[in-house]
Amino acid sequence: MNDANIGLIGLGTMGAMLALNIAEKGFKIAVFNRTTAKTHDFKANAGDLAPMIVPTDTLADLVAAIKPPRAIILMVTAGAPVDEEIEKLRPLLAKDDLIIDAGNANFHDTDRRAAEAAEKGPHFLGMGVSGGEEGARHGPSIMGGGDKADWDRVSPILEAISAKHDGTPCATWMGPGGAGHFVKAVHNGIEYADMQMIAEIYGVMRDGMGMTAAAIAAVFDDWNKGPLQSYLIEISAAVAKATDGGKPMLDVILDKAGQKGTGRWTVIEAQQLAAAIPVIEAAVMARNVSGSLDERKKGEAVFGAAPQVLPKGLVTLKALEQAMIAGKILCYAQGFALIVAASKEFKWDLPLPAIARVWREGCIIRSTMLNDMATALEEDASRGLMLAPYFVGHLKASGPGLRSVVSIGAAHGLPLPALSAGLAWFDMMRTGRSTANMIQAQRDFFGAHGFERLDKPGVGLHGPWGGHAM
Ligand code: 6PG
Repeated sequence: MNDANIGLIGLGTMGAMLALNIAEKGFKIAVFNRTTAKTHDFKANAGDLAPMIVPTDTLADLVAAIKPPRAIILMVTAGAPVDEEIEKLRPLLAKDDLIIDAGNANFHDTDRRAAEAAEKGPHFLGMGVSGGEEGARHGPSIMGGGDKADWDRVSPILEAISAKHDGTPCATWMGPGGAGHFVKAVHNGIEYADMQMIAEIYGVMRDGMGMTAAAIAAVFDDWNKGPLQSYLIEISAAVAKATDGGKPMLDVILDKAGQKGTGRWTVIEAQQLAAAIPVIEAAVMARNVSGSLDERKKGEAVFGAAPQVLPKGLVTLKALEQAMIAGKILCYAQGFALIVAASKEFKWDLPLPAIARVWREGCIIRSTMLNDMATALEEDASRGLMLAPYFVGHLKASGPGLRSVVSIGAAHGLPLPALSAGLAWFDMMRTGRSTANMIQAQRDFFGAHGFERLDKPGVGLHGPWGGHAM
């Protein structure tokens, strides 16, 4: 019987949750997993949804179970396993069938796979899926890339399973080739930055203000009712509240953060594009430094611990909230500027307001502020978020809080790399006359690289410091 609406390969946590979500929305789904027992257990444990699930033991059976033209979602480990599955599927599929890679692929790989698909078939979509296990099961945010016609073919299913913001599905086609996976990578970069800024503020409260985890949880809960309302603030309150054998859970978790590499990809890509995303860079750097546990301990033994208890009243919770608001706006301004740079370089025409909209629900960085960002980008996407009137107002109000928190942190040894990077970028972006004239003079001095002058037209001009004097 070839009556399944779609197929899925890979019944790991994310794949299994996505398959249940698809079945629940009324689409019959054929599933395949390398371990056959897992495939059958999956159906056996699917309860009411079992009739919508077709377990298959071989890839040929999977293909045979799906209505042509077929669409098959790959939910396997990013990298080589995706290429291996495509190679195995290619001889089994017809030219107009469609493979959808829903893992966290590097968008360059997706571009390559899309080009190979155009040459050899079948069709190929690269799809960023955000929201973790819960999102996959009940409504993720979906960022698609590939041919629009292929997206349109499966969008009724993708929109049905996605998260909704006031009824609008958070499932959007971003552009050709790797565009969807690129947008997902930027999402993850911002995810790293949001998490790092929250961790920095937590550090000020814990180390600088001597607050307990429970007291910190109450602050995050309170902020979650205001402009900072977001999934990450909400879960930060929840984790700060949790206990383990009477102790705060946070106090027994090792301070060494993992990473699968998507944040790093974002930073590497930004460097390639000469786009400035210092808040995200600082967040990736901080994860790297967190891994140097032994070195950090040796440093503390030699120099003494940096974080100092702050004099009472020096930092207020209001200033911390403002620092977080300003840091967040600056981080997103950088993230969207990176998207603009990539869109231009790769000729993608990425839909900025739609990206803000697709991130409003379902994904890890979902927040109220993203709705305001979508509105600001709809009004005028070309001026960037920092200069959008709504955020100019927010930055004027919250910028002083960021400055005071960063300066107090520096004076008292509380490391705030992401917040500091946001502030430095902000100050650079409102400096009409920078110090790059010095860099140009140095470059010309040692390498005759030439410069432009303020008082005369022309390029490749030289200074009076050697054989290149004009
Ligand atoms: C999401 C997340 C997810 C990511 C994890 C872990 O949007 O659902 O971004 O895709 O893989 O958050 O990422 P790290 O291991 O790199 O922290």
